Amino acid sequence: MHLGFEIAFLATSFFGSCLSRSTGSPLCNITLTQMTTFMTGSNRSLNFGLAKQEISNGIQVTVGNPNPATYKGLLLWTNIGSFAAPPTDSGFRYVNFTKCPASVTHANAVLKTNPANFVWIPPPTTSNYTVEFRAVVVYNRTNWQFLDPLVTNFTIPTVVNQPQPQPTPTPSPSAGISISPSYAKMLMCILFVVAINGI
Ligand SMILES: *[C@@H]1O[C@H](CO)[C@@H](O)[C@H](O)[C@H]1NC(C)=O
Ligand SMILES: *[C@@H]1O[C@H](CO)[C@@H](O)[C@H](O)[C@H]1NC(C)=O
Ligand SMILES: *[C@@H]1O[C@H](CO)[C@@H](O)[C@H](O)[C@H]1NC(C)=O
Ligand SMILES: *[C@@H]1O[C@H](CO)[C@@H](O)[C@H](O)[C@H]1NC(C)=O
Ligand SMILES: *[C@@H]1O[C@H](CO)[C@@H](O)[C@H](O)[C@H]1NC(C)=O
Ligand SMILES: *[C@@H]1O[C@H](CO)[C@@H](O)[C@H](O)[C@H]1NC(C)=O
Repeated sequence: MHLGFEIAFLATSFFGSCLSRSTGSPLCNITLTQMTTFMTGSNRSLNFGLAKQEISNGIQVTVGNPNPATYKGLLLWTNIGSFAAPPTDSGFRYVNFTKCPASVTHANAVLKTNPANFVWIPPPTTSNYTVEFRAVVVYNRTNWQFLDPLVTNFTIPTVVNQPQPQPTPTPSPSAGISISPSYAKMLMCILFVVAINGI
């Protein structure tokens, strides 16, 4: 199937910046209203969900689907802490580590397969946190899903007295994603109007 794309210009300078952004979300987070406005279509079940597993230095968050399912776009964010840097070859990246270290998005147009694992790192202070993971998975403009939020109370392990690991903006091969990419030529920009021709 051949798909041709043309990124439409949007009136505001803010979203105009997406002209150069076929590779992920410029926003740290997004609402259902924004998605409905910027994409066509509506929130629907693509059977994706969020799951978690506590690990030694935080929480591993999984964006998964019980069935084999591919998608192009992802925005995953939380209210606190940060994500470990997605490896450069994972197909994911920080939105902007300085601005929102707890937001990751897709980095390229390659189809993503599930599951994708991300490592959330708690803030470097000793406390207990309520962490809310939220995500949008985009298959295409009209088919996308707001995942049910994953809310969890994270308890700092009492045995841990050493400093928490600090995230860095430099992608680390050991940090937290396992992705097996398949290949597609579709460009996806999760947040913008993308005019699709030739379908
Ligand atoms: C969304 O991201 C902005 C930064 O762009 C931040 O100020 C705000 O707190 C975030 N909101 C949520 C609900 O995460
Ligand atoms: C989006 O749709 C999914 C799947 O039907 C549903 O679980 C989720 O609650 C919806 N989210 C919103 C914000 O409507
Ligand atoms: C990331 O966010 C910071 C702080 O808001 C901003 O100064 C910087 O220009 C942003 N970087 C990019 C590449 O947008
Ligand atoms: C965090 O929660 C655990 C379990 O409820 C508790 O034992 C611990 O004292 C709490 N720590 C802080 C800093 O509140
Ligand atoms: C999105 O994918 C669905 C399912 O394959 C298809 O029916 C629909 O036409 C596609 N929409 C766009 C805008 O490509
Ligand atoms: C988190 O802790 C708060 C305060 O103890 C409690 O009200 C809430 O139900 C907890 N949430 C979860 C998901 O366990």
